[in-house]
Amino acid sequence: MGWKFAVLLLAVLVKDAHAVCSCYQAGNYTGATAPISNAYNNSDFSACFSSACSYVAYSGDDTKGWTGFTFNWVLPLANAGGSLQIFDGTPDLSSNPAPLIQINEGENVIANTAKNLIKSTSPRITIQYTQTSTTTANVYYGSIKATPGLQPIAEPTSTTAIPSTKTYDTQYFKYNPCLITHDIMVVVNQRTNGGIKALTALNGIVSNFVTPLCVTTVPNTIDSTRLALASLTPYQPYFAIRGEIWGMDTTDVTTNLPQSGVSIDGDIDAALTGLVNLTFLVNQSKSTDSRTNVQRSVVLLTAEWPSAATLNDTVKSVFDAKGVNLLVVGYNLTIEEWGRLASNGRWYNVLNAANSDDSAVANFVNPFYFNDNSSPNSWCPPQSVQNLTGNTVFFQEPVNYSGPKSSDEIWVDPFDGQSTRYCNFADNQYTYTNPNGKGLQVQVFYELEAGKDFLKFYDSSNNLIASFTGFEVSGSTFSTTSSTITARFTSDYESVYRGFYVQITPQ
Ligand SMILES: *[C@@H]1O[C@H](CO)[C@@H](O)[C@H](O)[C@H]1NC(C)=O
Ligand SMILES: *[C@@H]1O[C@H](CO)[C@@H](O)[C@H](O)[C@H]1NC(C)=O
Ligand SMILES: *[C@@H]1O[C@H](CO)[C@@H](O)[C@H](O)[C@H]1NC(C)=O
Ligand SMILES: *[C@@H]1O[C@H](CO)[C@@H](O)[C@H](O)[C@H]1NC(C)=O
Ligand SMILES: *[C@@H]1O[C@H](CO)[C@@H](O)[C@H](O)[C@H]1NC(C)=O
Ligand SMILES: *[C@@H]1O[C@H](CO)[C@@H](O)[C@H](O)[C@H]1NC(C)=O
Ligand SMILES: *[C@@H]1O[C@H](CO)[C@@H](O)[C@H](O)[C@H]1NC(C)=O
Ligand SMILES: *[C@@H]1O[C@H](CO)[C@@H](O)[C@H](O)[C@H]1NC(C)=O
Repeated sequence: MGWKFAVLLLAVLVKDAHAVCSCYQAGNYTGATAPISNAYNNSDFSACFSSACSYVAYSGDDTKGWTGFTFNWVLPLANAGGSLQIFDGTPDLSSNPAPLIQINEGENVIANTAKNLIKSTSPRITIQYTQTSTTTANVYYGSIKATPGLQPIAEPTSTTAIPSTKTYDTQYFKYNPCLITHDIMVVVNQRTNGGIKALTALNGIVSNFVTPLCVTTVPNTIDSTRLALASLTPYQPYFAIRGEIWGMDTTDVTTNLPQSGVSIDGDIDAALTGLVNLTFLVNQSKSTDSRTNVQRSVVLLTAEWPSAATLNDTVKSVFDAKGVNLLVVGYNLTIEEWGRLASNGRWYNVLNAANSDDSAVANFVNPFYFNDNSSPNSWCPPQSVQNLTGNTVFFQEPVNYSGPKSSDEIWVDPFDGQSTRYCNFADNQYTYTNPNGKGLQVQVFYELEAGKDFLKFYDSSNNLIASFTGFEVSGSTFSTTSSTITARFTSDYESVYRGFYVQITPQ
């Protein structure tokens, strides 16, 4: 029969909560803008030393939820180990619920960043400040605003209505390509063995690819696609930019496609590394955040595959450093060319198209952009549950998960571009059974798009026992009496974050 009711034990991870003190403002709050501050003004919410301090903010209107969170730490930091958490609704904080968002000492939140745009589903949120130091306090200030029209969490959202009436070919595409949220650099190789006919076919693939996309040029949007276009040329730097980088719409792309071929081979490796360096910028300044949480890809279309092109580890490292995925769409490649391009163990995705219609486009959009498993996807290969030392079992996404793996580690502010992110449209399962039949202790570290991307745990009878979304810093721990646990990770079509690491200790 299995376990009807799995027992869920949540370990409290708050440290050093000893000192006696109360919040400056203990009461709850009703209004359209909730202050989050310890400006030592007792009409504001304020920190106290050590013991957690929380209050409930109510929008005053049940149709209004909360968003537009901004937050600043006043320098110099006191290094008091401070962190601020915002919870959807009014959960019992002693049960260690997952926050909608968590901000650690030193991390500011500015307009139009993912954490700023976080949304509650409830007209009430709970705001809690905690710090570990009992002797010194940080100074911080911020606010969050009530706005109408916030909807309850829907999950996964990948199949919900699309914000557009653009038509697409339902026969071929798994979902509406309008849902694709990427920064896409389209690169066309002007050198072909098949003459202008082959170039025309490549251009046809590009047109059919970009036409059903929903395109934006706004740098801080969290959905839609931004486009850039380049072609490969014979001489250094071996590429030509064919329009404003990230400023093109679909028509700009289709009208700027190269119309004439070249007869000399360039250097594909040098062209791709140069293009990625040039176009996928990473600005260390947070105030110029530009679609940090959006997936990125280069789509190279080519009707030849010269033997000089290696796409070797030097090329890979440039793509990895900027978190950019590569797809090579070949057209009418020979068996020999295909053999070199599609070699085993490659880090990029490949496809050899035989025509340029919607079916050819769907052959790469479905597996690589919609992640539908119709073909192996090197951008985010699934990993199995691993048993490292014989008694430490773990699984993680992405493959290069870069976050904490134990409670004494923390998420390091990532402003490193978009490396080590999971993919959109993920739907992966991980199952583990304790060989000795006893229960499990599970620790979860995660950074997921709040309310949209979920990591859920089920027991052997498929009862949901835990669900995680949003941001966390110190790992969440729970125990089960069930000896088998299944985790399911789903992501929607929008932002991608740094994923999760789950460590299971068999009891
Ligand atoms: C604030 O709201 C919480 C949750 O609704 C409630 O338990 C608590 O008693 C309230 N505190 C005050 C001072 O009204
Ligand atoms: C405290 O904050 C309130 C509201 O923000 C403001 O009206 C008041 O002047 C402040 N008091 C002091 C002493 O700063
Ligand atoms: C790309 O940028 C990296 C780091 O900024 C640099 O080391 C590398 O040489 C650049 N590569 C090219 C091809 O420009
Ligand atoms: C990053 O953004 C800042 C602030 O807008 C700007 O001053 C700086 O030039 C930018 N750096 C790069 C490398 O683009
Ligand atoms: C990749 O190829 C380039 C050019 O052929 C070469 O300079 C580089 O050393 C190669 N990198 C690796 C890791 O093999
Ligand atoms: C594919 O290439 C071959 C030569 O390798 C050529 O004969 C054929 O016409 C090409 N097919 C298309 C559809 O371009
Ligand atoms: C991990 O692997 C070792 C050796 O294969 C095995 O003895 C052990 O039972 C495994 N541990 C778990 C928790 O599955
Ligand atoms: C992950 O990291 C390892 C080691 O740093 C590297 O060899 C590998 O290429 C990376 N994989 C991806 C997908 O970035």
